[in-house]
Amino acid sequence: MSDRSHAEAYEKVHTSIFPSSAEAAKALAAEIRDLILEREKSGKPVVLGMATGSTPVPFYRELIRLHEQEKLSFKNVITFNLDEYYGLNADHPESYACFMREQLFDHIDIPAENINIPCGSLPREQVFAHCREYEEKIDAVGGIDLQILGIGRTGHIGFNEPGSSRESLTRRITLDRITRQDAAADFRGEENVPRFAITMGVGTILRARKLVLMAWGENKAAITAKAIEGPVTEAISASFLQDHPDARFFIDTGAARELTRIKLPWLVGPVSWTPRETRRAVVWQSLQIKRPVLKLIDEDYNEHGLSDLLSEQGPGYQLNIRIFNQLQHTITGWPGGKPEEEDTYRPERAKPYPKRSLIFSPEPQDAIVGMGGTIDRLIEQGHDVWVISMTSGSLRVPDSEAYKFASTLAELAGNLSNPAAWTTQTTYAREALRQLDEKGEFGEDTPMLRQLKGLILRGELRDAAHALNVLRQQIVFLNLPYYEHGRYRRFKATPADAEMLKKLLQEKKPHQIYATGDAADPSSVAGIGYKLLEQVLSDLRGEEWASACTLWLYRGKEKPFEPHEIDMAVPMSPLQLDRKLRALSRYGSLTSLEKSTADINRATAGHYDALGLAEYEAIESFQRRTRQPQ
Ligand code: GLP
Repeated sequence: MSDRSHAEAYEKVHTSIFPSSAEAAKALAAEIRDLILEREKSGKPVVLGMATGSTPVPFYRELIRLHEQEKLSFKNVITFNLDEYYGLNADHPESYACFMREQLFDHIDIPAENINIPCGSLPREQVFAHCREYEEKIDAVGGIDLQILGIGRTGHIGFNEPGSSRESLTRRITLDRITRQDAAADFRGEENVPRFAITMGVGTILRARKLVLMAWGENKAAITAKAIEGPVTEAISASFLQDHPDARFFIDTGAARELTRIKLPWLVGPVSWTPRETRRAVVWQSLQIKRPVLKLIDEDYNEHGLSDLLSEQGPGYQLNIRIFNQLQHTITGWPGGKPEEEDTYRPERAKPYPKRSLIFSPEPQDAIVGMGGTIDRLIEQGHDVWVISMTSGSLRVPDSEAYKFASTLAELAGNLSNPAAWTTQTTYAREALRQLDEKGEFGEDTPMLRQLKGLILRGELRDAAHALNVLRQQIVFLNLPYYEHGRYRRFKATPADAEMLKKLLQEKKPHQIYATGDAADPSSVAGIGYKLLEQVLSDLRGEEWASACTLWLYRGKEKPFEPHEIDMAVPMSPLQLDRKLRALSRYGSLTSLEKSTADINRATAGHYDALGLAEYEAIESFQRRTRQPQ
């Protein structure tokens, strides 16, 4: 764990960076254990403020472990949750009440009467009184000892959306568009996400004696840095933590990426100039002052805090040329390697040719979103390309899609000349329609509906892949069990998942693998899928094919790689970008972020152009995870 020291000038609130969310969760849980044990002696209760979302999940798992293995008792603990969706009953699977039962309360010995969660199902006219009582209840038990927080993409804590004042108290609030977008997958479509919530106010939260805000993964990096280093503002309610006497941020290395001490370390203290760090500094400087790499002069280095780099690796012009060449060598139209060509400076080796390329898509749309253009190239260049959909993705399919399919099937079966021969289909379609009606807008999908929705996505992937000339038989649907038995934000990998991946890899023995998940939070579909893959690859590293296999990371809807992080940049012509977009148009349930993939690819090309390299229409970018054998 690294604490701030030199970074104090930039970081306005105490920030600890942990190697992983698991380690941060362990540290925080140990602190809570000590507090509980200390209070037990004096017979006083501990009052904890609880949060929901995927962020606290590893922390709750650790509390459960402490209860089960170290016999830590929660009899003396009182909890207050931050918030609840307004319009959901406590038994709705996406209600925070249900989340808390599943993730924590059902597994520890906390008395039911000690649990407090705002009620989301009261009539409008009772909400105000309910909120006031919630505040009074907190005060009546002596206030919150330690409040756990996550952070939303708008910088909110609880559901205190931009504009919430420092004094705000528990109240009903309208959810921001971005917050609803982020919850879209949980509710199978943005239109199903509740519009309102009840949340503790910023003032309520700041009354807690201690506050700990947790954040994991690069997706949270930008907003976390703003909350820690930016001004205190109503636009980012997490920034109010800067004014609290005992507030701390517990973040992992991914979420720390945009902090000055990590992003621009030369502004904070001495730097050991590794090749990656050098590339980062030169690229940052060039983009910052809008001057191509080859035109940077020594004065630029001196004026941007890089005199140290200059004296170590200068003169500037030589350094510029070195970095320019490195960037130049990342660009290739041959992601599978260029056969019969010298490959010393190419991202991928020339041999063997053709290669067997396995492209792992956490959900059926991810690979097309993240690397549709590259798939197109690999196929065109004769490689043996396999698209592996790791999960069914069924949870993201809105009911409207299932309705469309089931009603078409019902109508088709009824209209055929021999309806009697189609009774199975008719019965299936009617039953699906009945189940859709019965569960209603917010209800949980039955196994039959999940299956139907999974099949719809399968069809879409086949269709999209077809637009890129991937043959049907080259698409594998793994349907990993962790997804089938879980819900968004609370998935848990099982040994069966790893076993299925292992079998596939041993059978295919790929020469290169493309995967994603690195930017995501550790309990997202992509995060879990990637971790499983990493674990299985490490188990198999003794096998001959595995040690020669290159692992390429791609990014889909999430934070794209920054120019200095890219090891392979695959350019797309306007026509290729069109083909990728045509493939994407086959999906009926893309989120707005997924739809913006062309903008992301154009922005990457824009960076290369600004750095003084060739100007392309769009670029898909990759990072190499394992070294190629020499
Ligand atoms: C919701 C919750 C917040 C939570 C945020 C982030 O908005 N009301 O309390 O911090 O989501 O969620 P996650 O941890 O899943 O990223």
